[in-house]
Amino acid sequence: MSSDVVFRAFPVASGFPETAVGDAGLLDAAEERRATAMEPGAALRFRAGRLALRRFAGQLLDVPAVELAAAYACPQCGTEGDRAHGRPGYALNGTQLPLSLSLARAGGWILMAGLAHPGPGVRLGVDLEDPAAVGFPGFDATTLTAAEAAKVVQQPVGLRDAARARLWARKEAWLKMTGSGLRTPPAAVDVLSLPGLRDIAPEESGLPRHFAAALAVC
Ligand SMILES: CC(C)(COP(=O)(O)OP(=O)(O)OC[C@H]1O[C@@H](n2cnc3c(N)ncnc32)[C@H](O)[C@@H]1OP(=O)(O)O)[C@@H](O)C(=O)NCCC(=O)NCCS
Repeated sequence: MSSDVVFRAFPVASGFPETAVGDAGLLDAAEERRATAMEPGAALRFRAGRLALRRFAGQLLDVPAVELAAAYACPQCGTEGDRAHGRPGYALNGTQLPLSLSLARAGGWILMAGLAHPGPGVRLGVDLEDPAAVGFPGFDATTLTAAEAAKVVQQPVGLRDAARARLWARKEAWLKMTGSGLRTPPAAVDVLSLPGLRDIAPEESGLPRHFAAALAVC
C-alpha cells in the first residue's frame, strides 16, 4: 500500500513545475479568504501548496484541476463549513474524488503525497521537517516520549537535531493520518515503531538531503 503512494516535492520559490498560466484564479473562494487573512509570506506558501495539491490531485486521476472544488474535512467541523481546511480532498461535480492526499510545508519546501483509489477507510499523512527548526531548548521535554528522548541523546551531539526532526516528522505524519493533528499532544504518541509509519528517503521524496520526512498510511 505504502509503495503505491506518489510523492512530489518542490521549493516554494520556484513553484510547482506543472503550475500553468492562469493558475492564480484556480483556488476556491474559501481558500482565497484563508490566504487573504495571512501575512504575505504565509499567503505565498499557502497558495503555492494549494495550487500544487489541486494540480497533483488532477494528475493522479487524470481530471482537469480547473474542474475541482476543495472538499477538505476538518475533524472538528466535519464536512460542514467552508470545506477549505482540515484533511485535504477534492470533489468533481459534487462527488468526492477517490484520493488520499497529504501536504506539508517547511524550510521553503513543499511535500505532497497522494494515493489514487485507496481502499475503504485508508488514510495517509505526510510531513517534512528542517533539523534547523527543532533544536530549541525544551523541544525534547515537550514533544518526545521518554524512550524517544533517550534515543536522541544516544546520538552524537552533531546528529541529534536530525534525529529530533525525524521523530517530529513521524509524529506530524501520524497525526495527519489520524486527522487529530496537534490536538493530540505530540509527547503522547511514541513513533519509534508504529505499523504503517516510516521515514521517506530523499531519493523517494525528491527533497534535499538535510530534510527529514515521514509517511503514515493506515
Ligand atoms: C495538521 C497540523 C499538525 C499541520 O501542522 P503544520 O506544521 O501547521 O503544517 P504542515 O505544513 O505540516 O501541514 C499543513 C497541512 O496539513 C493538512 N492538515 C491540516 N489539518 C489536518 C487534519 N486535521 N488532518 C489531516 N491533515 C490536515 C492540510 O493539508 C494543511 O495544508 P493547508 O495549510 O493548505 O490547509 C496542524 O495544522 C494541526 O494540528 N491541525 C489540527 C488542528 C485542528 O483540528 N483545528 C481545528 C480547526 S476548526
